[in-house]
Amino acid sequence: MKQKVFITRLIPQAGIDILKEHFEVTVFPEKRPIKKRELKKLAKGCDGLIPLLTDRVDAEIMDKTGIKAISNYAVGVDNIDIEAATARKIPVMNTPGVLTNATADLTFSLILGTARRLVEADNFLRTGKWNGWDPLLLLGGDVTGKTLGIVGLGRIGKAVAERAKGFGMEVIYNSTTKFNDDERLLGIQFASLSELLKKSDFVTLHTPYTEATHHLIGRKELELMKPSAYLINTARGQIINEEELIEGLKEGLIAGAGLDVYYAEPNFNKELAKLSNVILLPHIGSASLETRTNMAIIAAENLKNVLFGNRPSHIINPEIYD
Ligand code: DGY
Repeated sequence: MKQKVFITRLIPQAGIDILKEHFEVTVFPEKRPIKKRELKKLAKGCDGLIPLLTDRVDAEIMDKTGIKAISNYAVGVDNIDIEAATARKIPVMNTPGVLTNATADLTFSLILGTARRLVEADNFLRTGKWNGWDPLLLLGGDVTGKTLGIVGLGRIGKAVAERAKGFGMEVIYNSTTKFNDDERLLGIQFASLSELLKKSDFVTLHTPYTEATHHLIGRKELELMKPSAYLINTARGQIINEEELIEGLKEGLIAGAGLDVYYAEPNFNKELAKLSNVILLPHIGSASLETRTNMAIIAAENLKNVLFGNRPSHIINPEIYD
């Protein structure tokens, strides 16, 4: 009898095809996040699960469904209770690497977009306000020569640093590890978080979301930033205290923000949408066709390996094999 796999949303076909060759595959058919009670019911009796970052997979889901492996369709795994999975010897896997460039590109789009007021300019034109070229119209700021502060120098943080160097920016970073080789290779410098916040013209967040990074940026940190600086977040919404960011933006503590992620997605504080100095995107960091396809392939291969009894390459809790 074939093992069963449940996927909580339609993902690119390349991943589904890999799984269908070996397993009985069910895909949640709705175009919305699956509800907890639906997940408990529909994944019951399945061997493998591919959830999205929007699906909380906790101990109750694990116990009620009896799943034996979880292959997240994301690099971030903050939607999964890793401790509970490890205690049950359930391997948890993710999709690192393949989304680095897409996410770094989107981050850089937000840096350029906030600096040069792209969304505001687009709205200006669409709403019929343009009456001709104007030397003082919609002036933004250069990025060349400015300082970019990268918080979290993992794969994506490094890819953002490479892009920034190409644009002639100074790059400083803060991370739990000091990366001497990358400092030399990329021409970047380590800074404490407060030093980074004080010096940067753009601050971009690339840490995973954990207890330690919950509300890493709030009023106190915004007060350290330059009033001309921008805050960019393509990591996880909970890293920022969203209420305090809104207050800070209204009070002019910083010049603006570029956000792709929010505290309680898909909900976001509607006050943000009233601010013209903020660009708001619906969590599309990895949303290129190539990247989402590669994520589907990796998630499927991860799950296939585990269900075939092999050790997968992208395992979050390798200790279960000790
Ligand atoms: C991830 O994989 O964690 C990203 O947030 C998806 O865009």
